[in-house]
Amino acid sequence: MPSTPLVVLNAPLDMHLHLRDGEMLQNVINGSTQTFSGAIIMPNLVPPVSSKEEVIAYKERISLAQGDKKFTSYMTLFFKPSYDKAFLSALRDEITAIKLYPAGITTNSEGGVSGFDVEELRPALDAMSELNIPLCVHGETNGFVMDREAEFVSIYEKLATAFPKLKIIMEHITTKESVAALEKHENLYATITVHHLFITLDDVAGGMLQPHLFCKPIAKRPEDRDALLKVALEAHSKVMFGSDSAPHPQHAKENCGCAAGVFTSPIALQLLTELFEKHDALENLQAFVSGNAQNIYGVQPLAKTVTLEKKPFKVPANYNGVVPMYANEEIAYSIKEVKNG
Ligand code: DOR
Ligand code: ZN
Repeated sequence: MPSTPLVVLNAPLDMHLHLRDGEMLQNVINGSTQTFSGAIIMPNLVPPVSSKEEVIAYKERISLAQGDKKFTSYMTLFFKPSYDKAFLSALRDEITAIKLYPAGITTNSEGGVSGFDVEELRPALDAMSELNIPLCVHGETNGFVMDREAEFVSIYEKLATAFPKLKIIMEHITTKESVAALEKHENLYATITVHHLFITLDDVAGGMLQPHLFCKPIAKRPEDRDALLKVALEAHSKVMFGSDSAPHPQHAKENCGCAAGVFTSPIALQLLTELFEKHDALENLQAFVSGNAQNIYGVQPLAKTVTLEKKPFKVPANYNGVVPMYANEEIAYSIKEVKNG
């Protein structure tokens, strides 16, 4: 019998993850700890994680939820322009990055930044530059939904120029304009989700509306997806995988006011393997899912070896009540084995 092709990934990292809190945290944590070595944990809880005490307490709750699974939570703080060097120095060791949301742009972002006045942001961003704390940004304006990210690129460029020593990560990029910005500024980096590599707006709203594919930023045009695919498949050194896996209860998604977020963490590596194989780029998958992130963030993940095999996997209807992308559909790769250590 011909043997099934195997793909081995070392220490996969998810550089943009929503784990939530309380019951939802319990429901989704295994989807990440099973196959990932670690993840950057987003701070958009209610209220947002915005003090040293809150970071420490949230990390502890994640640690309790994960039990004995080997997994590192790289914590983030919710950006506020009022942060100063003394405040940030005191919590430097507790965090890996700070996440900036424009006010009200997405789930639980009401306390974010309004207007992007460089002088107003200078004390906090200078302090972050000095302390070498990366700034993760949800880059959307409140303009027309398809143009929001492209419009934000001028803000990325303004920040990248004004704070040349600050590492700025353009989170979950969806447009060719963001890809182009990567090349223009040394200190701009990006995460890319798995869903934005697979879908365009057509998949979300071209036929019957697909609430489980609705997220912010919304999936864009084929030429945008092509631009993302190019840099992901070549594992461009400034891009890394960040799932933006964002669980919501089923009723909040299948609702006339559908919550934004695609839940992908339990199937992300299987889908990425399928995609990289299809494009004959499997040799670059390791860099995309771990190596580049290690270089950009300077993190050294826990050892974890994930073996995938080319064997159809039927995605469950839900994981503890949370409906994943491609629920009930068959995908090409399965997880065969995970070895810790
Ligand atoms: O679709 C999204 N969901 N985009 C975000 O930026 C936030 C996330 C969430 O927290 O649900
Ligand atoms: Zn997110």
